[in-house]
Amino acid sequence: MEVNLVKLNINGKEVEAPQGSTILQAAELAGIEIPRLCYDPELSKMGSCRLCVVEVKGNRLLPASCVTPISPGMEVQTESPAVVEARKTILELLIANHPLDCLTCDKLGDCKLADYCYEYGVKESPYVGEKHNYAIDNSNPFIIRDLNKCILCGACVRACEEMTGQDNLSYLHRGFHRKATTAADVPYIESDCVFCGQCVAVCPTGALTEKTMAGKARRFNIDRVQTTCPFCGTG
Ligand code: FES
Repeated sequence: MEVNLVKLNINGKEVEAPQGSTILQAAELAGIEIPRLCYDPELSKMGSCRLCVVEVKGNRLLPASCVTPISPGMEVQTESPAVVEARKTILELLIANHPLDCLTCDKLGDCKLADYCYEYGVKESPYVGEKHNYAIDNSNPFIIRDLNKCILCGACVRACEEMTGQDNLSYLHRGFHRKATTAADVPYIESDCVFCGQCVAVCPTGALTEKTMAGKARRFNIDRVQTTCPFCGTG
């Protein structure tokens, strides 16, 4: 099938991408990396974290590049002063209700939120308010769930449904009390979870971590090897 290509300009560079691509996808094809937290190429698009905002000529708003389709002649800036300032504010808002215990967090070294805070020089949040104080779900042998570290990117909910065909995770409540959790908000062990580990694999923060590694090693201490899957036992 013939693919129609769309020409646009990203950061002063002429770029071509298949019609229907998003700005983020077109940028990626051109070797331009745009920060993202809720976007995962294996999952449906959600556009919830807003970290991927960019500047588009003629658009007063900063659209989320992961859900904005390209159009011919579009002029995009991915790291303009306005974009950088917006990303800093977004990160400050995300960590306003997030534990800053990175030194003892098992996810350090593999936490996208921490990586982007480092990249954009965000050390703390000026937005002080109520914080969540959820009990940590340590009820099962495989997954530790700390909803205090959840940024509501929805990747776990989408992975559960789209990658495994399960429907174990969804959203509960609205506003400050909104959470991504199991049906009826029960601990993982009491839910229909099959412990495939997909939700852990896509979580960009320390909200979902592998119990087998907790307190033993972080990602940068581990070498990847070909082995049998510890979750399903069949590889
Ligand atoms: Fe685009 Fe989250 S990565 S809104």
